Amino acid sequence: MLKLFYSNIMNEIIGDNGLSLKDFESLDTDKVIKMIKLKQYDELAFIDLPQQQTSEIKEIAKIAYEFDNFLLIGIGGSALGPRSIVEALSPYHNLRKTPKVFIYDNVDPLTLSTIFELIDLKKTLINVISKSGSTAETAASFMIVWQKLKERGISPQKNMIITTDPKKGNLRKIVNDYNLKSLPIDPKVVGRYSVLSPVGLLTAQIIGVNCEELLLGAEDITQKCILQKLWDNPALLLSSAIYLLDKKFNRNVTVMLPYTDRLKSFSEWFCQLWAESLGKQGKGLTPYPSVGTTDQHSQLQAWMEGLQQYVVIFISLNDYKADFQFPDIFNDIDGLNYLRGHSLAELIKIEQEATEIALSKNGKPSLTINIPSVDGYYLGQLFHLFSIATAMTGFYYGVNPFNQPGVEEGKDLTYGMMGKKGYENKKEEFTHYREKKYKYSI
Ligand code: PA5
Repeated sequence: MLKLFYSNIMNEIIGDNGLSLKDFESLDTDKVIKMIKLKQYDELAFIDLPQQQTSEIKEIAKIAYEFDNFLLIGIGGSALGPRSIVEALSPYHNLRKTPKVFIYDNVDPLTLSTIFELIDLKKTLINVISKSGSTAETAASFMIVWQKLKERGISPQKNMIITTDPKKGNLRKIVNDYNLKSLPIDPKVVGRYSVLSPVGLLTAQIIGVNCEELLLGAEDITQKCILQKLWDNPALLLSSAIYLLDKKFNRNVTVMLPYTDRLKSFSEWFCQLWAESLGKQGKGLTPYPSVGTTDQHSQLQAWMEGLQQYVVIFISLNDYKADFQFPDIFNDIDGLNYLRGHSLAELIKIEQEATEIALSKNGKPSLTINIPSVDGYYLGQLFHLFSIATAMTGFYYGVNPFNQPGVEEGKDLTYGMMGKKGYENKKEEFTHYREKKYKYSI
């Protein structure tokens, strides 16, 4: 089981910038647990994802092995989870294994044209993922790819899988009309909480990971996160601490700092979850994606001596599954010979702890999540821990952690300019504001 170390948020350890036991007593933690247990929002359905049947996913994954490439088209919650799975569990995947994985989560024409240069569509299985089936970016890329298949005489029935709502939406209609292969996303599971649905599990299975491992990890951590009281509940402790550090000290930037390259994309997955779930009604927390040791040479200065706004979440790792002893060379150079007798894994672990201690000594709060190794089981635990903790944090702030009203305006203005029916007034508005923008420029 992953372990949460929280000493470095306590005033007993870090001094005046830390929390006391009394601070925690001021929270209604029972209420938060109750909201989770009783599923006071339908969208808490994501908690039950570990119980899903995976046979359909596994069957579809088998088809992928007949292809050289797997192209995933999606955005936000429909792409960040799959990408973090590939990076964590099969790093440098495309240099080592087939099918090669390409994730296209933008509408940058240059990226798409590069992908088309690199892959033969005939030998590519395309997974279009959109829960709503109406996201402009995904719809646009889907239509371009569909047309390309048509031009090349490739059958979408063979080369395409659609992952979408089981009943509703444009993509479901296309699945039905054209008899395409498809996987369902539970309508109650919101995009950024859907990594452990077919959205992420198909990719996991395709890169050679048994998706049950992820689900087992998620299930094991869930037991702790929904059944236990505060001091034995890592999700509740995490969300309570972060909420209190904001309320008491205005520490509202959450730095995700795993000490392994394999969790770099996990950091980005976390950032979407945290930002889109919590940033509303003038409240919330700003996530910052990071990786150790790299960002010690980039961001650490600001965390240590800059604005007093950061809470760092370290992810430490016990077993890197690889190591290098430092060679017995350059013995006459004191600036190098201190490394002799040590190893690379030892260095990264010591640097992680040194940074933790340095922050703590300077009264800067941090939490540390320790995992034995980066594998499907522990990645499943991390996904579910942070998903549940995010929902809990939303409850503390009194915001709905499952909607994203703030992204609608930009979408509507885009629809207006692109000529979508019903958005004509948005076109006028767009033009009006564009003129304003052009008023001052140099
Ligand atoms: O968390 C969310 O709901 C969003 O970030 C979505 O994942 C994103 O907008 C993509 O939506 P869809 O899967 O409907 O295309």
